[in-house]
Amino acid sequence: MANQADQQREQWGSKIGFILAAAGSAVGLGNIWKFPYVTGTNGGGAFVLIYVLMVACIGFSVMLAELVIGRRAQLNAVGSFAKIKGGAWPMVGWLGLACGFLILSYYGVVGGWTIKYILHSFTGLMEIAGAGKAGDAFGGFISNPVMVVVYQALFMFATIWVVYRGVGEGIERYCKVLMPALFILLIILIGRAVTLDGAAAGIEFYLKPDFSKVNSGTVLAALGQAFFSLSLGMGCMITYGSYLQKDVSLPTAAAQVCFLDTLVALLAGLVVFPAVFAFGVEPGAGPGLTFITLPGIFAKMPGGMIWSALFFLLLFVAALTSAISLLEVACSYFIDKGWSRAKAAWTMGTLIFLLGIPSAISLGGGLKIAGKDFIDAAGFMTDQIMMPIGGLLICVFVGWVIKDIAKEELTNGGKMPIFAGFDAWVVFVKFVAPLSILYIFITGLKW
Ligand code: PHE
Repeated sequence: MANQADQQREQWGSKIGFILAAAGSAVGLGNIWKFPYVTGTNGGGAFVLIYVLMVACIGFSVMLAELVIGRRAQLNAVGSFAKIKGGAWPMVGWLGLACGFLILSYYGVVGGWTIKYILHSFTGLMEIAGAGKAGDAFGGFISNPVMVVVYQALFMFATIWVVYRGVGEGIERYCKVLMPALFILLIILIGRAVTLDGAAAGIEFYLKPDFSKVNSGTVLAALGQAFFSLSLGMGCMITYGSYLQKDVSLPTAAAQVCFLDTLVALLAGLVVFPAVFAFGVEPGAGPGLTFITLPGIFAKMPGGMIWSALFFLLLFVAALTSAISLLEVACSYFIDKGWSRAKAAWTMGTLIFLLGIPSAISLGGGLKIAGKDFIDAAGFMTDQIMMPIGGLLICVFVGWVIKDIAKEELTNGGKMPIFAGFDAWVVFVKFVAPLSILYIFITGLKW
């Protein structure tokens, strides 16, 4: 394992391996669980449009900036800033490490729900959902703190195990097969969802923008969701970029990951919203939205039990590939410091699990911070505060501090031509992205 300078650093096994792993990090609960529910609480179509704009204008630029930093330094998020520039910059990496800790703490909780639902598919979920009681069943489950924590522990155990196996062996192998499978299943589910009675109202809510529902808070929520969904602003893409071979085109990689991630989120909405309206669920129902509506769809399909189990299994895998990347950010730091992979994975994973317990019990027991459920408060902190600030600083760093180094890295030291959009990208990382983030952040921040 590569933790000494004289050893070869671990690398992705192939280019497609990296794309899949980075897409695996990006595509996760953020797309299938969070995107629909945040769209629902923010009024539908207009939010979707603003979201796509955020990805195209800010997400892509920040992603490319992160990949440049990571591949340049070939180090973890903190070490990368220290090596390239030093000074106070490694603090950005530390902010990322802290953010990764906090995200994974609640991510593990929702990851646990997916495990519960795989099993529950075989133990009566179809009958319950068929009788229109999926919402009650979900409510009953999350208000049982012991079960929620048990499933959270199982999910964290799986995450630690894969991270412990290492970059190529563990992470890459699982992503290669399972991500395409999830994609195909989503397409099948859209076919079923849009043909439900009453689906049309859902499609309208989802795709017809109503700008009267937009305020500065909506825009910040869209920005935060873009950061969350693309795994940006917290060092994850720096870390993944550090394992990337020098001859890979970073702009192409960034564009592919942004495209795939957004596609999956949009498809997930096309499954969830027709069902929300067909089954008379409140679109702003919150974190349970996907878990309440999808079982209803499966219950209406022949062999629903199997579809349901398969879907939640793939969702579990999608969540796992993201969770792995979250844990890897912290582990990579300690491995570069000389820890063994095993020690880093187990220590960090256990700490994060413990940090997640308040989130796990908050939905049932009403554990609140200043009026928000603990799990929502943690999500708010990461999506709407830590990631935008991290993203802003990353743009400033690449656009203003190391612009020439970035150019050299993008051309692989002059061996590759510079990509066509380079000048435009520089304008984005220097001005457009940081100023928009700052503006959206200041105007939209509201507890
Ligand atoms: N992008 C992941 C998802 O959409 C979550 C994530 C955020 C992963 C930040 C890594 C870093 O589920």
